[in-house]
Amino acid sequence: MRIVRTALVTGSSGLIGSEVVTYLAANGFTVHGLDNNQRAVFFGPSGDTRWNQDRLVREVPGFTHHERDVRDRAGVAELVGALRPDVIVHAAAQPSHDRAAAIPFDDFDTNAVGTLNLLEGARQCCPETPFVYLSTNKVYGDAPNRIALADVGTRWDYADEQYRYGIPESFPIDQSLHSLFGASKVAADVMVQEYGRYFGMPTCCLRGGCLTGPNHAGVELHGFLSYLVKCNLERREYRIFGYLGKQVRDNIHSHDVARFIHEFLKAPRCGEVYNLGGGKDNSCSIREAFAITERFTGIRQVSTYVDQNRVGDHICYYSDLRKMRAHYPSWDITVSLEETIRQIVEAWRRRDAA
Ligand SMILES: NC(=O)c1ccc[n+]([C@@H]2O[C@H](COP(=O)([O-])OP(=O)(O)OC[C@H]3O[C@@H](n4cnc5c(N)ncnc54)[C@H](O)[C@@H]3O)[C@@H](O)[C@H]2O)c1
Repeated sequence: MRIVRTALVTGSSGLIGSEVVTYLAANGFTVHGLDNNQRAVFFGPSGDTRWNQDRLVREVPGFTHHERDVRDRAGVAELVGALRPDVIVHAAAQPSHDRAAAIPFDDFDTNAVGTLNLLEGARQCCPETPFVYLSTNKVYGDAPNRIALADVGTRWDYADEQYRYGIPESFPIDQSLHSLFGASKVAADVMVQEYGRYFGMPTCCLRGGCLTGPNHAGVELHGFLSYLVKCNLERREYRIFGYLGKQVRDNIHSHDVARFIHEFLKAPRCGEVYNLGGGKDNSCSIREAFAITERFTGIRQVSTYVDQNRVGDHICYYSDLRKMRAHYPSWDITVSLEETIRQIVEAWRRRDAA
């Protein structure tokens, strides 16, 4: 007899949540999504995710959407209790570094308290359930900017040999500038680890670099590649904030994120932390991203340069993927940066034509 397993995915209408919903459903799970389209409240109409929610309801067999807020402690506890899910993937968040300063309570209540609500709900009802939390590389604050860098033409790169594979999970997380977003994510990240270590629950934090893909509702304040491609296609000006446009991000396609999450769910560990990005091979600077996008669209990118960098923004960041590969040898990056950008171009064209 085939055993149907239940998954609860928060932030299910967002980029990562929706990819995980689709992936788990294709791998035999009955998936329940929790989302309240808060992204539209955070970022206005261009951040609206209802189109993605509708797509999931239409296309994913057995998918159920729950219109709930992760800040609603009783509502979260009630849903977790009713479902007793076999796996929980927590991707709901206020995801922007820059937005957080204007909405500190919404940011902290969503990112830190919302995560605690879910963890406690899980501990009360299903403590054996693997719990994956989407954390961020912003937990490292701006400390990566202290690493010696070299200007290598169109990008910055680490000049210190110690970081030739990128930033490892052992990198310090305190005594640096985080942004309020980074600080609320640190609170959640440490709490997720603690539920793993203190209560023995199978939890993990995935400290994301740039997670991206065709289903992102990219806006200027969040979703770097998605927003950049949208600007290019609409012939809009892209504003570069400091660092000569040579700042480096490592980009991972949401499909490879979902694949890693599935590997973890199959063989969970307690209180683990992974740096989840595209690694050096999938990294690019803003200038390099312009060039790749232009190749696909044939449209020259219009940009302006603002001398002031974003507060605490990383100059060069790419993840050291060796721990992920060592713990889960059947996982690796499968979607290249070029292919990811090609898919984002196609998706914006499709959405704009609809
Ligand atoms: N995309 C990236 O580059 C990136 C990088 C590092 C970490 N992350 C983390 O990954 C996770 C997912 O990011 P994403 O890019 O998919 O973001 P997203 O904004 O596309 O999706 C988040 C979803 O959560 C929902 N949400 C927000 N607040 C909510 C609330 N209070 N209650 C219920 N739902 C709520 C939003 O409506 C949205 O659909 C977040 O935790 C984010 O911090 C993302």
